[in-house]
Amino acid sequence: MDESETALVEAPPRRRPRAVDAKTPLLKQYLTLKEAHEDEVLFFRCGDFYEMFYDDAETVSKALGLVLTTRGPGQEECPMCGIPHHAIDRYLPRLIRMGFRVAICEQMEDPKSVQGKRIVERAVIEVITPGTLTDEKLLDEKEPCWLLAVNRPKRGSLGLAWIDVSTGRFYVTDVPREAQALEDELARVRPREVLIPEAAVRALADTPGSPAQPIDTDLGLAQVVRRALPGAALGAAPDWAFDGEQALVFLREKLGVATLACFDVEDRSPCVAAGHALLRYAEEMKPGFLKHVTEIVRHRPEAHVAIDAATARCLELVETLRGRERAGSLLGTIDASRTAMGGRLLREWMLSPLRDIAAIEARQDAIEALLGNKGALESVRDGLAKVYDLERLAGRVSSGRATPRDLAALRDSLAHLPALREKALEASAKPAPFPASGGAGGRLVSVAAKLDPLAPLSARLEKTLVPQPAASPSDGEIVAAGIDPELDELRGIARDATSHLARFQAREVERTGIPSLKVSYNSVFGYYIEVTQTHRDKVPEDYVRKQTLKNCERFLTPELKELEGKILTARERAEGLEATLLRELKDEVASAAPSLLSSARAVAELDAIASLAQVARDRGYVRPRVRPHSGTAIVAGKHPVLDAASTGEPFVPNDLLLEDLPAGPVPDGPGNEEKGRILVITGPNMAGKSTYIRQTALLVLLAQIGSFLPAASAEIGICDRIFARVGAADDLARGLSTFMVEMTETANILRHATERSLVVLDEVGRGTSTYDGVSIAWAIVEHLHDHVRCRALFATHYHELVGLARTKALVANRTCAVRETPRGKGKGQPGDVVFLRKIVPGGADRSYGLHVARLAGVPEPVVARAQKILAGLESGSFDALHARPAEPETPKAQLALFESPRERIAARLRSFDPNRTTPLDALVILSELKALAETERPA
Ligand SMILES: Nc1ncnc2c1ncn2[C@@H]1O[C@H](COP(=O)(O)OP(=O)(O)OP(=O)(O)O)[C@@H](O)[C@H]1O
Ligand SMILES: [Mg+2]
Repeated sequence: MDESETALVEAPPRRRPRAVDAKTPLLKQYLTLKEAHEDEVLFFRCGDFYEMFYDDAETVSKALGLVLTTRGPGQEECPMCGIPHHAIDRYLPRLIRMGFRVAICEQMEDPKSVQGKRIVERAVIEVITPGTLTDEKLLDEKEPCWLLAVNRPKRGSLGLAWIDVSTGRFYVTDVPREAQALEDELARVRPREVLIPEAAVRALADTPGSPAQPIDTDLGLAQVVRRALPGAALGAAPDWAFDGEQALVFLREKLGVATLACFDVEDRSPCVAAGHALLRYAEEMKPGFLKHVTEIVRHRPEAHVAIDAATARCLELVETLRGRERAGSLLGTIDASRTAMGGRLLREWMLSPLRDIAAIEARQDAIEALLGNKGALESVRDGLAKVYDLERLAGRVSSGRATPRDLAALRDSLAHLPALREKALEASAKPAPFPASGGAGGRLVSVAAKLDPLAPLSARLEKTLVPQPAASPSDGEIVAAGIDPELDELRGIARDATSHLARFQAREVERTGIPSLKVSYNSVFGYYIEVTQTHRDKVPEDYVRKQTLKNCERFLTPELKELEGKILTARERAEGLEATLLRELKDEVASAAPSLLSSARAVAELDAIASLAQVARDRGYVRPRVRPHSGTAIVAGKHPVLDAASTGEPFVPNDLLLEDLPAGPVPDGPGNEEKGRILVITGPNMAGKSTYIRQTALLVLLAQIGSFLPAASAEIGICDRIFARVGAADDLARGLSTFMVEMTETANILRHATERSLVVLDEVGRGTSTYDGVSIAWAIVEHLHDHVRCRALFATHYHELVGLARTKALVANRTCAVRETPRGKGKGQPGDVVFLRKIVPGGADRSYGLHVARLAGVPEPVVARAQKILAGLESGSFDALHARPAEPETPKAQLALFESPRERIAARLRSFDPNRTTPLDALVILSELKALAETERPA
């Protein structure tokens, strides 16, 4: 696809001729329809084409590279362009991706039936907007397409509602009236289109680029949405749509309930009005599409691990930071689903991990059951592979948009459900041979129970449809033989018209005794009987003469006329009848949509569980123990993404221990170096610090979605929130400076993290001067330790932070083991650092930054100069104001990879604390220092 196509194209300008001025009825009709769809491109169906006129034609022809012509001559002149109706699937997705909204206008009657000067009736049947996609070709198989509405009442919480029109999944929730809370929820749901009050959309359009406003202002609200979702479309909802009373009446009626309490939704909560605005808009865009929305699910934030926008980005949960691709993200790595529905659900799980231990264990038990019963996983997954996207099929069926092929897909999918259900039940019934197993089968039992194969519907489809139905009645057969006697007869007539005529001819030959009598056809009379002059006198009374030729005469009979009528119209009638039968079938299927949806959701869940089981088996994951305390212990844990990506170097597993919060106040003073609740991780560049801390967050998250883990064993204390930040990442789109972003995000953590949270900070504080950075980093760790009391991992190059462990009992130091090889053998060969990728207790005093700079290809003179400056800085002798260029390097200086032995002695001395060193250790250090001193030679 062309790069430029992904860019948002400006909406067509509004200047447009008015319907009253149009000179032809067709343009009058077009302009009338267009008046109601000013913001959309109008695809105006004319016969086999969708035509566009005036500025729509100009914009679209440019965007799609179509030929722009002029309507005329002799007619009213106006620019126009068109696309053949069968090519809509080619052009429409491109327009939508470019950010256009498209209104589809169809002919509502058969042009053949329109008499005289009247023109065909036309109407807009749907509007396609980025958040209301239902067409397979416009949708991403494994991603939901959310439309979300935000209600900001006069006071109190904000109400949110979101829906995937293609599947009917409909959620609501209330969030605190804070920009951050809204932003986080938007980032979690990731809607393609967001509805906010009209005034807010206008405010943003009128004052682009103005400084951030409070969320209580219209502009402020729109700004938050823009900031959280720069690529999403903004839609305007009228104020009345956010009226609580109207909303309640509407939703109760739509869902057929007396109170929303049955969905665990408080009638007066702000999310109700958001749901109303949302459904009204969706219904306007997609008339008749929302029949399958039969329930609301209240999203309960307190039941899920809160993952804010920055964390999801930093941990690359569903897309990579660079390239924003699914491949390489956590989801891309652990999604082995066999159905699109399962893939979508897994994604949802990933962005909303659970806090409830029982719910997590139920998923674990299900995984274990699948793994524990021989062949169960394979057979379940084989069964799943045969099921189409039932959820979206149900959506299309209920809106009456299902094609005959959709019905066949439905039939084939339903046919596999009984076996699938059987397999799932079988797997859940047998006790799994795992010692840690909880209840047998866990979620599997209830999922299998919900997996209704809809036997009557399945049988009806099986019986009614031919094996491979045509796309439409005019393209071939859809309804099977034996369903409708009239259809069978009509088809029989159309199929063997010749044999009917032959039978008729034989009968007439016998009746008249004219052996040469024959039935023929011409376009003037249609079918006729021809009798040679020889047999003229044998012609029966009931023959009506039509023509006399030299040698013969031609006749008609009422029976022949009837037969002709039957033959010629049989096909047409068969088509009509088939269309009626098809409609009946669709209605029947549509009425089963709610049960279909609930089965579809059970299949999705089964698939998500089976996917986790498959990954666990393929990669040797183990079942973690999830516990109510707030400690975490992982033995030989691996980064799930790096471990799975086989890049040659095997991934080195690492242990992790974060101790539980001790009861009572934490005394000041050093704690146990082997333990610790907050780990300060220092060590060389490239050694694996960032990997280790992210891996910890990912493993905890995976455990809380119910997944098994890449580790030898793991015990995870449930987290309420996971925060991950990487310092110094700018967010120019948000108009914030590098350090501002860092501090805003850090502030958010300090305000929201609790005792039960896990905080992962990667080099936070590095976006400013060293002293400022160290001070802030130090204060942050102290605050986390003293006040938040959460679990935390802090990777940093501020080696000063190693000192925190001396006074903060729950802080412990970790470093990444490296081995320094002696200097290279030949002259000019530098020594080397080998990264062992092992996290060990202790702190580092140096980063080997210059070594990594050299590895990265920084020119040698630059590295050499940097070494000199570093040495100067460390000895306090570097004077920046009067720094001279480096003197020509001696071969020795060029060889030195690291500081001189003297510097290394100094560094070693700085690295340990005599008060915390045993006499034996002191002796070891002393001999180490002596060995270093021996290597010192005069320069
Ligand atoms: N345990 C491991 N096993 C194998 N390879 C690893 C391991 N940990 C990290 N790596 C590899 O080392 C590279 C550097 O790791 P990472 O980015 O975590 O280092 P770092 O210590 O954070 O470096 P810097 O200080 O420069 O940010 C990673 O890209 C990864 O490929
Ligand atoms: Mg790093």
